[in-house]
Amino acid sequence: QVNLKGKHLLTLADLSKQDIMQLIMDAIKLKEMQKKGENHQYLKGKSLAMIFEKSSTRTRVSFEVGMTQLGGHALFLGRNDMQMGRGETIEDTAKVLSRYVDGIMIRTYEHDTVVTLAANASVPVINGLTDDYHPCQVLADLMTLYEKKGSLEGKKLAYIGDGNNMTHSLMIGCAKTGVSCSIAAPKGYEPKAAVIETAMKFAEATGAVIEVTNNPVEAVSDADAVYTDVWTSMGWEAEQQEREKAFQQFQVNSELMAHAKKDAIFLHCLPAHRGEEVTAEVIDGPQSVVFDEAENRLHAQKAVLAALMAD
Ligand code: CP
Ligand code: NVA
Repeated sequence: QVNLKGKHLLTLADLSKQDIMQLIMDAIKLKEMQKKGENHQYLKGKSLAMIFEKSSTRTRVSFEVGMTQLGGHALFLGRNDMQMGRGETIEDTAKVLSRYVDGIMIRTYEHDTVVTLAANASVPVINGLTDDYHPCQVLADLMTLYEKKGSLEGKKLAYIGDGNNMTHSLMIGCAKTGVSCSIAAPKGYEPKAAVIETAMKFAEATGAVIEVTNNPVEAVSDADAVYTDVWTSMGWEAEQQEREKAFQQFQVNSELMAHAKKDAIFLHCLPAHRGEEVTAEVIDGPQSVVFDEAENRLHAQKAVLAALMAD
């Protein structure tokens, strides 16, 4: 098992290729153990605080159930139920929570909030999604790709749509593990230049090809996996209408899927909007593995929790 005791997981840049691959192997082992009903209570008596400033179905449930299955306990802390909602600082929150719990998971807006929380916490901090990154989702995505294709290195993932938190984490996760990653986004919605640069730097070590285009057909050509996400992420609701217009040519439908490899899988972090970023035909069709992917959130995060928090 990978030992990252006491470390934070803020972005996948925090992990080496070996760490990521070992977390995936640990997750697959934990999945087997859970299915067989074997004891894996590596976090007996440990507590995880979960701060949510944005909505969640998968992240909340998979972290909470994951802690229970590991023998520990998770606390759901909604922003408005905490003193943070009344102006208590993130620094003080970090220091206080560190006196009670063994780890903190946070879902928030600005990535800097997570960085500040981690800088002031004496227990591991896990990023459960910020405006810029969603590392836990990508661990589950890479695990799913590995399970379906048997390896990661040399595979190609295409991402179609908004250059958002998912895009950033996918680019870094793919670059680190040797998965080539082609992004197709409308002009003005490309991923951040600094993240592209970081991903390309990591890709030098693994031979992955990282490219960003405005052409979906080009991006999916010869892909082993096609990925998309909502056009309007949490926090950007005011832009919904203009985004719907800008993203019209960036829908994953059967026609676009036909340009990928015949046996390509379709991935989506969920929640999905059928008829917008993806057609029902694709997400509910034979190439879609989105529910295996959602399940893997549980297993991948249990591997992370054990690596960061187990004795
Ligand atoms: N994919 C994901 O993070 O889902 P939730 O927003 O439901 O947690
Ligand atoms: N990009 C989406 C991901 C949701 C899991 C959002 O931030 O809303």
